Amino acid sequence: MNNQYSALEILKKSTEFLSKYNVKSPKCDAEWIICHFLKIEKLDIYLDRYLITEKETLDKIRDAILRRSKREPLQYILGKVDFCNITLKCDSRALVPRFETELLVEIIVKEHQVNFDGRIIDFGTGTGALIISLAKQFPLATCIGIDKSKDSIELAEENVSLNNCNDNVELIHHDWYQNINSLKKADILVSNPPYLTLDEWSNAEPEVKDHDPKDALIASDGGKTDLKQITTIAPVFLKKGGMIALEFGSGQSDFLIENLKDRFYNITIKNDLTGKRRFLVGFLKD
Ligand SMILES: C[S@@+](CC[C@H](N)C(=O)[O-])C[C@H]1O[C@@H](n2cnc3c(N)ncnc32)[C@H](O)[C@@H]1O
Repeated sequence: MNNQYSALEILKKSTEFLSKYNVKSPKCDAEWIICHFLKIEKLDIYLDRYLITEKETLDKIRDAILRRSKREPLQYILGKVDFCNITLKCDSRALVPRFETELLVEIIVKEHQVNFDGRIIDFGTGTGALIISLAKQFPLATCIGIDKSKDSIELAEENVSLNNCNDNVELIHHDWYQNINSLKKADILVSNPPYLTLDEWSNAEPEVKDHDPKDALIASDGGKTDLKQITTIAPVFLKKGGMIALEFGSGQSDFLIENLKDRFYNITIKNDLTGKRRFLVGFLKD
């Protein structure tokens, strides 16, 4: 029996297999898995020069493809995710950072100089995606990530070390419904809090529903509870003129503007790449 397979052969078989399980981008995911375990580039697959001879490597790829067919997120299988300017360790301890959330970082970066040396707080830090990206963009800033999930904080701590920003990132295990008196006021408060309704979550893909931590996604009262809490307490955490930058869900911009308009000025809504209203920026009044 022939025990040698070319990477291209494996790609074809894997793509067919993943398609049967309704994986959204079967070919692309199979490419990622093959490149990851063979430590090769995508082009190497298509040049069709790469033969897999070791059973152990083949088994690893098979196992990964099988996991993906069960709709486990690709990022958990690879154990990592690229986000903005960094690579993060990624596993079931925290929500997989989403590509669209990168826009929050972009919005903040556009508003500040690279030598910005103020304080940034990230409410609901998860893997640390936002706060670590910002810490890398603003090496002189003091960056604080807060999360109520101990698991997330542990993963974020690992990511802080992996990205060598222990000097300007601090992580705090805290629930934003509890008082915290020890925090100094910040110049920027960023958050991508839970904002899905139970219905939206129920209709989500298995990658989300069966794998992302539920607490990271769902908020009661039509997905608004956590956004309401954050917009209510934001003035306590921000300096005058300080910036709030939020990600929110479908149809939530009006209530957010209503909640913020008395205390914040220059409130602006920004769209995601599909043109949907998904981000809010504002500045605390005197
Ligand atoms: C949508 S995830 C965002 C994670 C990360 N910032 C990102 O963008 O990938 C929301 C995060 O908020 C945290 N969280 C939810 N409720 C919280 C609360 N009451 N206090 C603190 N953190 C909370 C969750 O544990 C989760 O990590």
